[in-house]
Amino acid sequence: MYSQLRELRIGPLQLDFPVVQAALSGYSDMPMRLIARRHGAPYTLCEVMLDKFIVELKMRRRNRHFLHVADEEHPTGGQLMGAEPEQFGPAAVRMVESGFDVIDVNFGCPVRKVLGRCRGGFHLSQPNVALEIIRRVRDAVPPHVPVTVKMRRGIDDSVESREKFFEIFDGAYAEGVAAITVHGRTVTQRYDGPSRWEFLREVKAHAGSRVVLGSGDLFSAQACVDMIRFTGLDGVAVARGAIGNPWIFAQVRALSAGEPLPAPPSLFEQRDVIAEHYRLAEELYGPERCLPDMRKFAIKYAQLHPRHTEVRGDFCQVKQPGAWRRVLEKWYAVDGPGIHPPIEEPNPRSSEAEFVGGELAPPSSDVVPAAADAGRLGFLLVSGGWR
Ligand SMILES: Cc1cc2nc3c(=O)[nH]c(=O)nc-3n(C[C@H](O)[C@H](O)[C@H](O)COP(=O)(O)O)c2cc1C
Repeated sequence: MYSQLRELRIGPLQLDFPVVQAALSGYSDMPMRLIARRHGAPYTLCEVMLDKFIVELKMRRRNRHFLHVADEEHPTGGQLMGAEPEQFGPAAVRMVESGFDVIDVNFGCPVRKVLGRCRGGFHLSQPNVALEIIRRVRDAVPPHVPVTVKMRRGIDDSVESREKFFEIFDGAYAEGVAAITVHGRTVTQRYDGPSRWEFLREVKAHAGSRVVLGSGDLFSAQACVDMIRFTGLDGVAVARGAIGNPWIFAQVRALSAGEPLPAPPSLFEQRDVIAEHYRLAEELYGPERCLPDMRKFAIKYAQLHPRHTEVRGDFCQVKQPGAWRRVLEKWYAVDGPGIHPPIEEPNPRSSEAEFVGGELAPPSSDVVPAAADAGRLGFLLVSGGWR
């Protein structure tokens, strides 16, 4: 049984498919976004950036990656986080001038240090300030640029938190946001336990024709279809499931067209994409600076290799610029079938796990990504990273 997924509209942007790539601190830079676009993501989001940081950013060569948007990747969204409403407008304008097509406001980050500085998920506790931020951003950017919001389903499970969620949710559309993405976990929950898809269904029923995307536990193509089917949402944002697995976007497109789940990418396909990812990162950051980031990606790509533990081990050893080529020569020299990445905790509302993998893979400590090193801005480099 399959159901064809519909197009997705974000303000004036008409996307041909409703499965987009979420914002991922420490990951969703231009190379990741571009590769996702080439594999079928109709829209991607840049990792979150601080309003203050953007306004003060000097356009030196070593900083250019922060606001870099490639010609080929439009439409792509920039995401802002901050504390003071008045700083959001100028930062949003700078993002638009840099080429971002959408401005997304982050009311979801659960990192302790971020909350302590009254940013990210903290705003879910103060609807007035949250709505003031949205108003400022909407007023600052040209009318044709959609403003969107990313929020968790609340600070916690209290009634008060739920009421504030809906106050911000309804208020944001009234202020003119084009879409809201809801992550079905609370801020205090961080990543413990599943994303509550039942809540997402309720939100969509409440929203009516207003555009809502869902987030949480989208680790496979089938899970994306399942979330849309279960919740009735207009679209979904793939996050951890897209790190080192850009093929997920083409796979959802195939399922949506009524085709069987495509085989995982072959080793040669994987090799070519890893090499291209490195090439883009080297070009943007330089061969030395790209290494730590690319190690994180390579570890995730390695999950699709049948000998993933050894491949991952070799990628971890890459310390010299260019040494990753030797890992590719060693493990990807002969073509062969790849495997689907393991799914540690499929969402209880998604019936996909058996279907996609054939069997549930054993738990792997790095299904939850290297979140501890999330955030190349440094402000997220706190114990626990994004989580
Ligand atoms: C390492 C990491 C970095 C993240 N960075 C961001 C971010 O910059 N902005 C944002 O709105 N959400 C961010 N998120 C949240 C994801 O976009 C997504 O909502 C969340 O991971 C739930 O989806 P998943 O369970 O399918 O991964 C991040 C999550 C992780 C794990």
